[in-house]
Amino acid sequence: MYKLEVEVNRTDETIKFDMFLDEVAQANFNESSEVLHIANLMHKLSNNEEELINILMLYACQGNDIENAYAENSLICAVFEHCSIRLNFWHPSENILDLPHIESELHIYDMPHDHNFDFLTVGMWGEGYSTEVYSYDRNQVKGYIGEEVNADYHGIKTLGRGDVHFYRKSHHIHSQIAPNELSISLNVLIDPEMTEEMDEQFRFKKHNQKSLIIDRTEMAATNGLLGMAQPFINMLQEFGGSDIDSILSGLTKSKNHYVRLDAYKILYSRSNPLAKQKLLKSAELDSSELIKSAFHKEVV
Ligand SMILES: [Fe+2]
Repeated sequence: MYKLEVEVNRTDETIKFDMFLDEVAQANFNESSEVLHIANLMHKLSNNEEELINILMLYACQGNDIENAYAENSLICAVFEHCSIRLNFWHPSENILDLPHIESELHIYDMPHDHNFDFLTVGMWGEGYSTEVYSYDRNQVKGYIGEEVNADYHGIKTLGRGDVHFYRKSHHIHSQIAPNELSISLNVLIDPEMTEEMDEQFRFKKHNQKSLIIDRTEMAATNGLLGMAQPFINMLQEFGGSDIDSILSGLTKSKNHYVRLDAYKILYSRSNPLAKQKLLKSAELDSSELIKSAFHKEVV
C-alpha cells in the first residue's frame, strides 16, 4: 500500500511559478527523491498566494486555446513530454446544482474512481476538498462492468492548503466531496500521454467498506488511439453490411482488450452457430482475463 500523504518540509518559503515549471520540466519522476523534491516545491508554491492570482489572471487574459485550455473546473497551465500541470477548482455544491447534467459530470463529486496515471496534488486555496480514499490491487481485477473489486478503505482525507497527496495509478480510488467554499488545487499529472499501453481507469459504485463495483470503464471510450475505435466499431454494426466482418476480425487482434471484446461481441451477434463456436474458442485463448470472463458471460 502506497501512502497517500507526502511528508513535505513545512515552511513559509515561497517559489515563483516560472521557477517551479523549470524544475518540473527537468524532473525524473521515476526517482522517488525527485517526486519528493517536486512535492516540496509544490508546498512552497502553495505559500505564494500572489503568484496563484497572477497565474489565474495570466491565463484568463490569454484567452482559451488548446494549450491553455480552461473550463469552470480546471485549467491546463503547462504540458511537458513527461507530465502536465493543471489547476483544479472545487466549487461548493450550491454553486453547481443547477448545471446541466453534462457539465455537472465535470464536477466529479461522490463518484469513486481511479486514474491510469500517477499524480501529485497540492492544496492552493480555500479549506480544500475532502475525499474518501480506497486502495485496490489492479492485478486482481479483470475489468468488466459489474465486477466486485476488493478494496481497503482509508477514510476521509482533506487536501488542506499546503498539503501534498500522491495518487498512484490503478491503485488509489477516490470519491471527492464538495467543499464548503471554493478551493483550488494544483496537480502534476505524471506521464499523461495517451499511449496504447495505458491501462483503463474505472468509475465504481459504492458497495460496502470492503469492496466496490465497477460501474464504467473509461479508457476504451476516452483514451488511446485504439481505445477510440470502440465507440466507432459499436456504430459500425448499425450499417450491417457483410464488409464489416473482416474489419471486426482484425479488431479482435487489437492491443486494447475492450476493443477486442466489442469486436468479439458484435461478430458473435452476426455469426452462424458454427462461427459462434469458433469465436468462443478463440476468445477463451485470449490473453486477457477480461475477454475470457466477460465475453462468455455476456453472450452465452
Ligand atoms: Fe480523480
